[in-house]
Amino acid sequence: MTIADLLSIDDLGGADGIEDVLRLTDSFVEVTERSIPRVPALRGKTVASLFYEDSTRTRMSFETAAKRLSADTMSFSVASSSVKKGESLRDTALTIEAMGVDAIVVRHSSSGAPHRVAGWVDAAVVNAGDGWHEHPTQALLDCYTIRQRLGGLGGLHIMIVGDVKHSRVARSDVAAFSALGAEVTLVAPPTLLPPSLEGWPVRVSHDLDTVLPGADVVYLLRMQQERMTEALLPTLREYTTRYGLSRRRAERLGAGAVVMHPGPMNRGVEIAPEVADLPQAAIIDQVRNGVAVRMAVLYLLLGSGPEKVPTAERLVEQAGVA
Ligand code: CP
Repeated sequence: MTIADLLSIDDLGGADGIEDVLRLTDSFVEVTERSIPRVPALRGKTVASLFYEDSTRTRMSFETAAKRLSADTMSFSVASSSVKKGESLRDTALTIEAMGVDAIVVRHSSSGAPHRVAGWVDAAVVNAGDGWHEHPTQALLDCYTIRQRLGGLGGLHIMIVGDVKHSRVARSDVAAFSALGAEVTLVAPPTLLPPSLEGWPVRVSHDLDTVLPGADVVYLLRMQQERMTEALLPTLREYTTRYGLSRRRAERLGAGAVVMHPGPMNRGVEIAPEVADLPQAAIIDQVRNGVAVRMAVLYLLLGSGPEKVPTAERLVEQAGVA
């Protein structure tokens, strides 16, 4: 598979493309578990992070992934940049590209911003989360984590619970989970669902307690207050009472069910503090797998030569000469 940019899960062309990334991730997981977790696959390449919104996981994960592939990294922070002097997104992207970068990882509060950047620069562009729109690498690491815990996604019942309306993670996850054969149910009060779900391959429930026992995966979302422009709930306490994954609710999950969250969590709101640390919770696994998934994505975008998708043996061999 060859892709120029990763702006949306759809850029991977469906289940086969997603599976290609997950298989490649297997090789990079093996690399990340080595005592020296580094291969020279992207030596000579430069990856820039262009983050207009806060991030802990995605930003550090991409930078770690690039370094483990021996790429050089450049990091941009709006707070200390010339954006503060009025420089536009286009001029900022062109300025960074002029310094010689091969990939730009973009996070922005406006949906579509990474698509605009991709139209302006020749470098590969990765969408690291744009407004309410998409967060494709989050969906890939979520698929990888579910596959790791449960063997695959085909036939699974996945409940995405919470503020779907403002969630780019939910949009990418619905596309990826359903492409891989899972049945997805959105569980939320009507005010936290998008105004139209036309074309979404999902079921909807407003009652977590009814659907919970049938869930293989419960995927919790936080209230994305930074994207809310109006009061959508009577109180946060009422939301927690009806939709929070309490200890009592977690005990009603089937054996083997997995609890997930993209982070950052608001413990005590969408998830009880102790539930986030149960063995069923795969939240730290998601973060861990994120590095290998992003290595796979950067490798697909920037790796060269006839061996586009390396075998684990080849990566290990390369690690020996890094
Ligand atoms: N999941 C996620 O995107 O987390 P960050 O906002 O910390 O990057």
